[in-house]
Amino acid sequence: MTTVLVTGANRGIGLALAQQYAQQGAQVFAVCRESSEALEACENVTIVSGIDVTDAACLANLSERMSGIAIDILINNAGLLRRTELSQIEEELELYRAQFEVNTLAPLRVTQALRSHLGEGAKVVIITSRMGSMADNDSGGQYAYRISKAGINSAGKSLAIDLAPAGISLALLHPGYVKTGMTRYTGHVEAEQSAEQLRQRIEEMSLETTGCFRHANGEVLPW
Ligand SMILES: NC(=O)c1ccc[n+]([C@@H]2O[C@H](COP(=O)([O-])OP(=O)(O)OC[C@H]3O[C@@H](n4cnc5c(N)ncnc54)[C@H](OP(=O)(O)O)[C@@H]3O)[C@@H](O)[C@H]2O)c1
Repeated sequence: MTTVLVTGANRGIGLALAQQYAQQGAQVFAVCRESSEALEACENVTIVSGIDVTDAACLANLSERMSGIAIDILINNAGLLRRTELSQIEEELELYRAQFEVNTLAPLRVTQALRSHLGEGAKVVIITSRMGSMADNDSGGQYAYRISKAGINSAGKSLAIDLAPAGISLALLHPGYVKTGMTRYTGHVEAEQSAEQLRQRIEEMSLETTGCFRHANGEVLPW
């Protein structure tokens, strides 16, 4: 049985991923700060609540709660978008720091905290954003979110290289423009549709393509 751990699993894309992997018969660990009615309603999901991905004690606790369990697919999905205006940068510095903590540092910290649970053949997924792409940026603005996602793209590339000798592959995946709380429910696709596409990309992951940056629809994205 495939074992999947998803962060940010109480709502949005993370919830849809947890739901779908469980329906497919995987053993799912749904990691969140606080559970939700929708998550509680999912069958065959183990809810691991009380985990803030920016908190060292929570990460140690997560590793302990996963004691003795090998993870086949680790999905770093938790993310934060807070709109910022450059003219307000001094007033909004905390928003920059918060997004850096959740979007850039947390996927690295979670992966490191769970490193001993990842064996040969395991897959590490980072849900990033095309807003972290420099080549793809044609609209400017959104400084805090963009730099936090560009940062994780850079770190994810290093992580892919460092994990490859252990037989662990990594992918940086953009979920699409998805109707969730993050986008105030605007977007092109529903979370369920994005999760279906993401699962296909995860299925295709291999050491040959490790470190790739792709859209959930399969398109290779420019850095
Ligand atoms: N929606 C889009 O169009 C879109 C586009 C590109 C990339 N993405 C990326 O896709 C991922 C999922 O986004 P979404 O659209 O599903 O957003 P969402 O509905 O806003 O969900 C965000 C999730 O992240 C969790 N989270 C935030 N800060 C956390 C923390 N400190 N500790 C633990 N969990 C935390 C939230 O938990 P709480 O409920 O506790 O806050 C929630 O479960 C994110 O990485 C996002 O950047 C989304």
